[in-house]
Amino acid sequence: MKISRRTFLKTTLGAVLATGFPVFSPPHALSKPKRSVREFRFSASKARVNLGAGPDFTAWTYNGQVPGPEIRVREGDIIRVALTNHLPEGTTIHWHGLPVPNAMDGVPEVTQKPVMPGETFVYEFEARPAGSYIYHSHVNYQLDQGLYGPLIIEPSHPREVYDREFTLLLEDWVMKDGGGIADTKRRPPMGMMMRGMMRRRGRLSTRGRPLLEPVYDGYAVNGRMYPAAKPLIVSKGDRVKLRLLNPSSASIYDLQLAGHSLTITHVDANPIKPVETDVLRIGMGERYDAEFVANNPGHWLLAAREGGFGEGMLRIPVQYGGVRREEPVAPIFRRGLRLAAYWDFQALYPSDEAVSGPADRSYPQTLSGGMHSPFWTINGRVYPDSERLVVRKGERVRMAYWNHSMMPHPMHLHGHFFKVVNASLPERRWILKDTIIVDPMERVEIEFLADNPGDWFHHCHNLYHMEAGMANVVVYES
Ligand code: C2O
Ligand code: CU
Repeated sequence: MKISRRTFLKTTLGAVLATGFPVFSPPHALSKPKRSVREFRFSASKARVNLGAGPDFTAWTYNGQVPGPEIRVREGDIIRVALTNHLPEGTTIHWHGLPVPNAMDGVPEVTQKPVMPGETFVYEFEARPAGSYIYHSHVNYQLDQGLYGPLIIEPSHPREVYDREFTLLLEDWVMKDGGGIADTKRRPPMGMMMRGMMRRRGRLSTRGRPLLEPVYDGYAVNGRMYPAAKPLIVSKGDRVKLRLLNPSSASIYDLQLAGHSLTITHVDANPIKPVETDVLRIGMGERYDAEFVANNPGHWLLAAREGGFGEGMLRIPVQYGGVRREEPVAPIFRRGLRLAAYWDFQALYPSDEAVSGPADRSYPQTLSGGMHSPFWTINGRVYPDSERLVVRKGERVRMAYWNHSMMPHPMHLHGHFFKVVNASLPERRWILKDTIIVDPMERVEIEFLADNPGDWFHHCHNLYHMEAGMANVVVYES
């Protein structure tokens, strides 16, 4: 008898929920490595924090720390997280990038009711596939108040060899009580700026209107701001793996390591044919695994310039053991550097899905806003009054983005990985992602297989655009 993975998962999850222990059907028990249930307790609460530089302030945290605790498990494990809410408002956790069962996806009013103050909710799902992920609250502006953390799934059969590994969360902060919502300085979108509408700023951020992006005053790595950032210690000859995660609410980073190039090996958890680059651009919600060979002893900075505006700088020292501790050397952002683009990537393992002919459905998605109103729209509509993108199980679905605005939008689809349509590659080599930056005036198409029934949120991962309406829902019709 052939059991599909999904049926299998449903069966084992049912068994787990009923008995507290996974129960396996005999064929799988024989052929699969033993998997364990990994339990975590998360308490969402306000806490005083300090980024190592700058003032103390009150952030919204998991277990009193920023970022939240690292979840690190093995592929195939069952992750069980008991979330208790000690915040003054409802909350949820979303497992960004992981194709979890719909009920575990953590989107308020789409997949669950918010977990209210005093309540506990247990999330439980299988950790698959291996890769670098982020978890975060999906309620209001909580992401920009500190509610996020790393989720790393190690492969059950590792194929890579490296000497050291670091997980780096690249964070934008407003170092005031309450975080991103507390700032008084707000950044008007480009279009409004050009129209001289800055004077309307105050009015735009009043009740009932979405907030404009704050002006961040702290950029941190793993909750530490340079010069307090903990250096990455390497030895000459090391092969070093970096897991680069961007949980920022509104910052795209251009990252560069002085004295070294970076070799990108994974995009949003999915392996690609390695691509060497000088600068790595990472949007909100994106993850990249990149490696470098420590072949240039010294004291260097891994630094990120904020892509859109170049205002903020994020820095972390990379230090060779034994090297005298002098001032680290910063990378120089100059013209002519290699900047890897999606179009340079191809899947490491060609997909075995048989594809032929056009997609079963295609949804044009026009992204606009920022000009005449504080709202951001898809096809002119503001969530929750946005369209429902109907799909049927088994279909191949295209989304054709066309960005009509002056801002980049990192578009994210829940519950599925999608292929990035790339005319210069055979389809079997298209990369898989779950978040993709659509640049101003750019057209990009993605395609996904509708294989995970439920209602799935689809939105811009600039938190301030999402909260200002740039979202809709993919629904499965039965
Ligand atoms: Cu990372 Cu809908 O979110
Ligand atoms: Cu956006």
